[in-house]
Amino acid sequence: MDKLLIEGGARLTGEVAVSGAKNAALPILCAALLSAEPVTFTNVPRLRDVGTLLALLGRMGVRIEREGDTVTLEAGALTEPVAPYEMVKTMRASILVLGPLAARCGEARVSLPGGCAIGARPVDQHIKGLQAMGAEVAVEHGYIHVRASRLKGARLVTDMVTVTGTENLMMAASLAEGVTVIENAAREPEVIDLANCLIAMGANIRGAGSDAIRIEGVPRLRGARHRIMPDRIETGTYLCAAAATGGEIRLTGVQAASLDAVIDKLAEAGCTVRGEPSVIHLRAPSRLAAVSLRTAPYPAFPTDMQAQFMALNCVADGAAMIRETIFENRFMHAVELQRLGADIHIDGNTAVVRGVDRLQGATVMATDLRASASLIIAGLVAEGQTTIERIYHLDRGYERLEEKLAALGAKVRRIA
Ligand code: EPZ
Repeated sequence: MDKLLIEGGARLTGEVAVSGAKNAALPILCAALLSAEPVTFTNVPRLRDVGTLLALLGRMGVRIEREGDTVTLEAGALTEPVAPYEMVKTMRASILVLGPLAARCGEARVSLPGGCAIGARPVDQHIKGLQAMGAEVAVEHGYIHVRASRLKGARLVTDMVTVTGTENLMMAASLAEGVTVIENAAREPEVIDLANCLIAMGANIRGAGSDAIRIEGVPRLRGARHRIMPDRIETGTYLCAAAATGGEIRLTGVQAASLDAVIDKLAEAGCTVRGEPSVIHLRAPSRLAAVSLRTAPYPAFPTDMQAQFMALNCVADGAAMIRETIFENRFMHAVELQRLGADIHIDGNTAVVRGVDRLQGATVMATDLRASASLIIAGLVAEGQTTIERIYHLDRGYERLEEKLAALGAKVRRIA
């Protein structure tokens, strides 16, 4: 299994372009199932998760052409509306085929995703919403079996804010008969990007980005062309890496407006951050101030940036309290950071981090995508060499990571 070797101590400086957003690309690729006409997406990141999803869509009968960051999909003849366990278990976001298949084919079998390192990740809200729209849903032998002659519009209130739940139900409602309103909807920028793509395909959607999304179903969706939004979590990860190393970087091709909560926290930590619409410039102090934070649904601080900020706080001045309110087990990176000499105390969903003068390089293990990013940030500032094992987690969500870090001056290389 591949490993990353990092020699700590280099200040990150220079410029790097961010890629398309994984968490926008995944639902948007699934939206192709809603139309019999070809759809073309640009700025699609080259990630393991994207490859996994394209393989799943291909297995269903979707014709796929991929050239660089442009992908064209044509779902004229869906021969196999099934998402098998062996594919879904490697990528939970496969659940995003459920809504489109229910709406387009009237029948689908999708494996229950099961949990992952950060939590149980149930999908009860996805199922509840489809049932409210008239689908018959049976969960048997580890599969969700959904049948619906034609979904009917309904008023849906999710028990909690769920990003892929909102996305699944918005896609299903696009072809339903009548009006659906999703209350308590997720407001994430990736939900807006999906809505914009669906609207380009002929969907009638209003309110994406607010907590109430209104979808008036249409008989069919047409082909379209859509550019995937920039990845705000990749952007935030590089900003944190530069901040930890006392560096100065410029990120291009970003959507600065989608990162206000993260930029605010970086400024609180002592960084000078200047955001223009598609460029962010950060200059870090030689030593950061510790910053407390609490994760919550957008527009609050994103849970996908919690691990990266914990790494920052490990080498900051003072103590910080981090509260993780979205997932029940998203502190797996803490024990690995402690191996590098970090002073972290975990109590339930709260972590108290006291900054130390120096971390020491060591061998650590990645457990999930964003935890791996936090280990890289820590390795960049640790004394000596840090080896990160199981970095296939990273390849799921960061395109050409070591190449981009090396371009900013990091001493990092991948070994098999
Ligand atoms: C999306 O996951 C993202 N993934 C996650 O990013 C992100 O961390 C998460 O939203 C929160 O922002 C994609 O978009 C592909 P949720 P999702 O449904 O949709 C509970 C990354 O690193 N819940 O918003 O699965 C759930 O357990 C990944 O890129 C239910 O109980 O998250 C959690 O506690 C990690 N029942 C909370 O809601 C449901 O039916 C929020 O989960 C659905 C969710």
